[in-house]
Amino acid sequence: MVVQALRRAARRLPAGGRLPSVRALMAQYRVGPGTVRQAMARLTDEGVLDARPGQGTFVTPPRTTPADEPADFSWQGLALGASRVPSDGLTALLAAPVSGAVNLAGGYPLPDLQAVSLVSRAMQRAARRPGVWGRMPLEGIDGLREWFAAQLGGPISAHEVIVTPGSQSAITTAFSALAAPGSAVLVESPSYVGALVAARLAGLRLVPVPTDRDGVRPEMLQQALATSGARLFYTQPTHSNPTGATLSAERRRQVLDVVAAAGAIVIEDDWCRDLSFERSPVRPLITADRHGHCVYLRSLTKSTAPGLRIGAIVARGAALARLAACRAAAEFFVSGPLQEAALEVVHSPGWAKHLRDLRAALVRRRDVLVGAVRQAFGDAAVPLVPTGGAHVWVRFDDRLDDGSLAADAAAAGVLVSAGRQWFPAEPTGAYLRLSFASAPETQLTKGVELLASAAAGTHPRRRSR
Ligand SMILES: Cc1ncc(COP(=O)(O)O)c(C=O)c1O
Repeated sequence: MVVQALRRAARRLPAGGRLPSVRALMAQYRVGPGTVRQAMARLTDEGVLDARPGQGTFVTPPRTTPADEPADFSWQGLALGASRVPSDGLTALLAAPVSGAVNLAGGYPLPDLQAVSLVSRAMQRAARRPGVWGRMPLEGIDGLREWFAAQLGGPISAHEVIVTPGSQSAITTAFSALAAPGSAVLVESPSYVGALVAARLAGLRLVPVPTDRDGVRPEMLQQALATSGARLFYTQPTHSNPTGATLSAERRRQVLDVVAAAGAIVIEDDWCRDLSFERSPVRPLITADRHGHCVYLRSLTKSTAPGLRIGAIVARGAALARLAACRAAAEFFVSGPLQEAALEVVHSPGWAKHLRDLRAALVRRRDVLVGAVRQAFGDAAVPLVPTGGAHVWVRFDDRLDDGSLAADAAAAGVLVSAGRQWFPAEPTGAYLRLSFASAPETQLTKGVELLASAAAGTHPRRRSR
């Protein structure tokens, strides 16, 4: 009460005006000296009053900068220097979709495809488990490490697994742990935009390696290793995002041989392991690697829910030790309740059914989207029908500017991802990445029709940015 009364009194006084003495205020408000002093102390903390010992208490003058004058942050440009990380690509993918628009740009399946009920039930139990809010082992809880290792089978053991908060964090960790700033890293062209951003953040020089419908071209990889001096190659050998390509069995052997011969490390991003539509999905590269040339990344976020940020890094030798040190430096450890919930979800009786339902829904959506794209733009627009994942890589006439087309499509009411963002250097053609997981099945055809109307109005050869 006295605080409010003093605040009002301060407002009535001019700036710099002096408040009555403590004694006068005691009499005015009929309270003791402690109450007056406490109220004054609080308003002094808030910056309303300025207590000057021996002189009295005064009303703080307003700040000299008028409130309507914009703050000047321009000096930060000098302090921070050039930016290593372009802010558009990744943030656009993660941005909340504009309401009313058909979202063919998202990276995660819609909530109705997520394991939300399994996750939330597991989370409620996990949150109550004794000790779960305490410090966790730096490399993750044993059960989860064992599960990730068992998923790979064969020679991988739990002590070679580090639990991470999703695989984006695993990529960032891998780049900073395994390459020195300024060195080169080989990446497929095109490749996952989040990996391109992470490599730039780590100060690495991106060297593109050409791909075709069977994945990276091993002879080009060999050449790139020789000419660039790179000792790191980031790849998605199975259902690549964005192209959907899967590295053929023969090329898998060749890639491992080429990498081993160069004394290099391949980072295998197996982001899509749970979203494969194949009856017997190809085995990861790491299962054929004996001498630590492969560092393997896995994620659960796509098949459970984006918020269950659990993934894993699998590695051996000095690489494992460096990755563990880097992980600990970045975040100490992954939150206990999240790890416990993830462990419960993957061991729950409903997990296998959830995966079956998710894959079946994705296959249906893929067929609808591919059908609509071929209808609108011809068969050649879909060079590869993906056998896993959540996206279709759509090719357009190279005279079309994909950046302008994506902007025009957004204006027409459909969100798509411009192909150029997925290339580590100049794009080799005009592409869009369309997601069949981030919009309801019933909206996929409408989304493609809106895209077709935008494409009809997009002027060829128009250049964006
Ligand atoms: C190829 C690839 N790797 C990694 C990630 C990161 O996913 P998360 O951090 O949710 O595991 C994504 C997400 O879109 C991806 O497409």
